[in-house]
Amino acid sequence: MAKNLSKITVFAPATVANLACGFDVFGLALEMPGDEVTLVPNNKEILQIKKISGDDGKLSSAINENIAAISIQAMLNELNSKQGFDIYLKKKMPLSSGLGSSAASSVAGVFAANEWMGKPYSRKELVKFAVEGERVACGTAHADNVAPSLLGGIVLCRSVFPLDIIELPVPKQLFLVVVHPHVELKTRDSREAMPKMIDIKTGTAQWANTAATVSALYENDFELLSRSLIDHVAEPGRSKLIPCFDDVKKAAMENGALACSISGSGPSIFALVKGKKSMDQVAKAMKLIYKKANLGVDVYCSSINKKGVQVIKK
Ligand code: HSE
Repeated sequence: MAKNLSKITVFAPATVANLACGFDVFGLALEMPGDEVTLVPNNKEILQIKKISGDDGKLSSAINENIAAISIQAMLNELNSKQGFDIYLKKKMPLSSGLGSSAASSVAGVFAANEWMGKPYSRKELVKFAVEGERVACGTAHADNVAPSLLGGIVLCRSVFPLDIIELPVPKQLFLVVVHPHVELKTRDSREAMPKMIDIKTGTAQWANTAATVSALYENDFELLSRSLIDHVAEPGRSKLIPCFDDVKKAAMENGALACSISGSGPSIFALVKGKKSMDQVAKAMKLIYKKANLGVDVYCSSINKKGVQVIKK
C-alpha cells in the first residue's frame, strides 16, 4: 500500500467506441475532455462519495449506484481489502454523449485506487473492474470505452471474459473531430435501436471491414482505412436517433474526412481525418450544419491520446 500518499487525483480521457464497423470491439482515446477523480483514504472501511461536480446534479452519490464507486468496490473485493476511500468526482465532460462518460469515471476510480494500493494490477487487468461500472450504467459489460481510456491509443477488445485486449498501432497523421449535439441519448436506449439479428451478407461486409481496419492501421494505409470504416450494423438504426446525422456526415465527407460515424452509442458524431489542416476544415463544416439547425454543439478536435489515464496530482 502506498501509505505515504494522503490523496491522489487522476484524469481519465473520453473515448470514441466502435469506430464505425467495430461495434463493442474498437475504441480510441481522446486528449480531452475527460473526468477527474480524487481519492482520499479513510479509516472507516467504506467508500463514500464526498462530492460530485460538473454533472448538474444528475449522478447518484449512493455507493451501489455510482459508477466510480462500483468499479473501485469490485477491485477491493477481489483484493479482499477493507480499505475505505472518500471519493471526489469532477465530471469534465458531457453525460450520455457517446464519449464514454461512465467509462471515464470508472477508469479514473479504479486507476486511482490501484495506485494507492501499490499497483497490484496492470492497466489491462483493471479493465475487468472498470467494466463492472459499464454493466450498471448501460446493462452490458463492454470494454470498448474503458480499455482505451485505461491504455490510450486505439484498442481492439477481442473478449472481456476472459480478458483479451489488443493494442493497435496509431498512424501519426491520424486526427479526429468529435461533434456533440446538445441532446442526451442513453446507451441503454441506443442499444435498443440495434438490430436483434443480422443477415449473413451484412455480417460478411462488417467483419471484412473490421479486419481491413486492423490491416490499414498496421500498414498506415489511409485509403484502406477510409474504405473500411463503414458501419452496416449499428449506424442504420441508431443514426435516426441523432439530429442532422446524415447532413453532418455528408458535410464531413465532402470536406475531406476519411470516415464519419456515430461516436459510441451517440449522439456525438466523430470524423477521422488525415492531418491537422483537414481537422479544422472538417470541424467547421460539421459545426455549421448544427448552427443552421439552431442546435448547440461542443466540438472537440484531437490527436489520439496515447497515454490513457494519468495521475495528475498526489
Ligand atoms: N459499444 C458501445 C455501444 C459503446 O455502442 O453501445 C457505448 O458505451
